[in-house]
Amino acid sequence: MTQGVFTEQAVELVPLSSDNPSFAQLAEMEAPSTDQARERYLELLKRCLMRIGMEARFEPLTYQRTPSVRTSVYRLLANAFGRRYELVRRRKVNRQASMEGRGCSPDAESMIGLYRMNNLHDAVKTVVREEIPGDVIEAGVWRGGAAVFMRAALWAYGDDTRKVWVADSFEGLPPPSAGIAADAGYDLSGAVDLAVSVEEVMANFRKYGWLDDRVHFLKGWFKDTLHAAPIEAISVLRADGDLYESTMDILTALYDKVSPGGFIIVDDYGAWPPCRKAVDEFRAMRKITQPIHAVDWTGAYWRKA
Ligand SMILES: C[S@@+](CC[C@H](N)C(=O)[O-])C[C@H]1O[C@@H](n2cnc3c(N)ncnc32)[C@H](O)[C@@H]1O
Repeated sequence: MTQGVFTEQAVELVPLSSDNPSFAQLAEMEAPSTDQARERYLELLKRCLMRIGMEARFEPLTYQRTPSVRTSVYRLLANAFGRRYELVRRRKVNRQASMEGRGCSPDAESMIGLYRMNNLHDAVKTVVREEIPGDVIEAGVWRGGAAVFMRAALWAYGDDTRKVWVADSFEGLPPPSAGIAADAGYDLSGAVDLAVSVEEVMANFRKYGWLDDRVHFLKGWFKDTLHAAPIEAISVLRADGDLYESTMDILTALYDKVSPGGFIIVDDYGAWPPCRKAVDEFRAMRKITQPIHAVDWTGAYWRKA
């Protein structure tokens, strides 16, 4: 599962070719079995959630990160024609980018890419197999795809008790706080495509058949929701909040609930200096010595002692 220890250097990735190794391994299994069917379902689910190999060839003209004159014109046009037509433009399909989580299909339910989704898969499978107690949580879910995957994986590995916590503002990133120097210059609060409503995320769970009473939504800023959340123990904590403050809020509120042997996964450790700083400071403050492992060019994780 470990692909390398994080260094200042870029992580060398094992190429995920179009003939994905996990499919190749499956083909080597002898007769069709429940195990094979389960693994194939989960592999297919990952690809569906990230549209890998099925990337959209068009994107809505309104799919723009930040408002600008151009997007305002697009929106005007979209409103004028929107009842019967949608304005789209051709996009260059880049399958490698969606596998690596460096840009996803505009209709994908997760942007994390196959390496990081595989890491999440391994984590959920491991905590079930090793009976590490605790629920699973993603803080920072966007459209919810990684959390949908956790719910499906719990089912696939026969777990019938753990809850899936889905924590987000459901309105995008907060503006950087004035007192937090590490977040200065990282203002993504206007990124409209990062603001996904809780109804849309619920609809995504429903779309894949996983909106059930094991899934719990925590709506609001992490600093307001996570401390008070009625979570007893955590086996997989996935932090994907990008910013220093968001990452620190997640770790401060939830780290003590992670069971020994549990996973702490940080999506943005390699690529986002504010996130990395929060993790490094938190680990230093709490004297955490377990090595932090690189998942890919940005994701990282460690297991609690
Ligand atoms: C990069 S996206 C998450 C991607 C997602 N994990 C996936 O599978 O595609 C970051 C998310 O974090 C949320 N977020 C960031 N900081 C937050 C905070 N302080 N409180 C609540 N939500 C926050 C944003 O609303 C956004 O949905």
